[in-house]
Amino acid sequence: MMRFTENALMSDLIHDDYRLIQVISRFGVGLGFGNQTVTAACEASGVNVPTFLAVVNFVLSGDHASVEELAKQVSVSELMRYLQRSHSYFVDFRLPAIRRKLIEAINCSAHNQIAFLMLKFYDEYAAEVQRHMEYENTHIHVYVKQLLEGQVPAGAPNYQTLAQQHEDNHSSLTKSSNELKNIIIKYYPSDSDTLQLSDTLMDIYIMEEDLFSHCHLEDTVFAQAVRLLEKDVRARAHHETAGNKAASKDTMGTNEELSEREKEVIQLVVRGLSNKEIAERMFISTNTVMTHRRNIARKTQIHSPAGLTIYAIVNGLVNLDEVKL
Ligand SMILES: [Fe+2]
Ligand SMILES: [Fe+2]
Repeated sequence: MMRFTENALMSDLIHDDYRLIQVISRFGVGLGFGNQTVTAACEASGVNVPTFLAVVNFVLSGDHASVEELAKQVSVSELMRYLQRSHSYFVDFRLPAIRRKLIEAINCSAHNQIAFLMLKFYDEYAAEVQRHMEYENTHIHVYVKQLLEGQVPAGAPNYQTLAQQHEDNHSSLTKSSNELKNIIIKYYPSDSDTLQLSDTLMDIYIMEEDLFSHCHLEDTVFAQAVRLLEKDVRARAHHETAGNKAASKDTMGTNEELSEREKEVIQLVVRGLSNKEIAERMFISTNTVMTHRRNIARKTQIHSPAGLTIYAIVNGLVNLDEVKL
C-alpha cells in the first residue's frame, strides 16, 4: 500500500523515516528543499517521480505484496541508475568510512594480533561487497541495458537465471556481515576504545540494514520490472519477425500505441534534453534514441518539438511547468 504520494512534502519523508535521507540523495536530489513537494523536487532534478515514490514506499514498507504493482510503475533505467549510485555509495564512501573508524577504534591496541585480524576480516567483507556490486554493474546491468535498447542478447542466459545467482550472492553477503558483527561483539578484547568501537559497530548495523534493503529492492521490484521489460522485448522481437514475413501491409500513422520507452523519450525531449543527454539518462545509444524518435513521429504523426510538447501536455505525459518552451 502506498504511503507517500506525489503531493507529499519532501521534508515530511525524512521526518517520517530518516533512512530516506540516503534514498533521496542517491536519486541525486539535494537537501534544502524548503516546502517543495515530491513532484516539484524530483522534476527540478530530472528524476522520474513514479520510480522515486516506488522506492520510497518500498523502503518504508518492505512490502512483498506491492511488488507487482510497484514494478509496473517504475522506469527501469531510472531504477538502475539509482542502484548504480547506491553501489558507488557503498563501495566508495560507506565501506571506506567505516574502515577508517574501525582503525581508530582498534589503534590503541595495534600490537594486538586480533586487531590486525579483525581489520583483515573487514577488508575481506568489503571486497566481497565490492565484487558483488561490480558483478551487477558489469553483468546484470549490461544485460538490462541491452534489453533497454530493445535487444534480446543472443546466447545470453535470461534474466531469471542471472537473478537467481544474484539472490544467492545476497544471502552470502548477509552471512559475512553477521560474522563480522559477531567477531566484534563476542571476541574482541575489551581493552580497546570501547566508545569508538561500539560506535563503529552501530555504523556496521546501519550499513547492513541499508545494504539489506538495497538487495531486497533488487530481488523484488527491480527483478520484476526487468522481467516485464524482457517479456515485452521478446514479444516485440517475435512480433517483428512475424511482421516482416507478412510484409508491406503496414501503413503510416496507424493507431499504434506508444511504448513506455517512447513515452519516456517524449518526456525528456519536451524538457529540453538533447539526444545525447537522453541516451545517457536512458542507458541507450544515441542511435536508439533516434529510432525511438522516428517511431514516435510515425505513431503520432507529429514531427516538431513544439507539436510534441502539446501532445505530451494533452496526454498527461508532463505538466506544463516541466516543459522547456
Ligand atoms: Fe546491488
Ligand atoms: Fe545485489
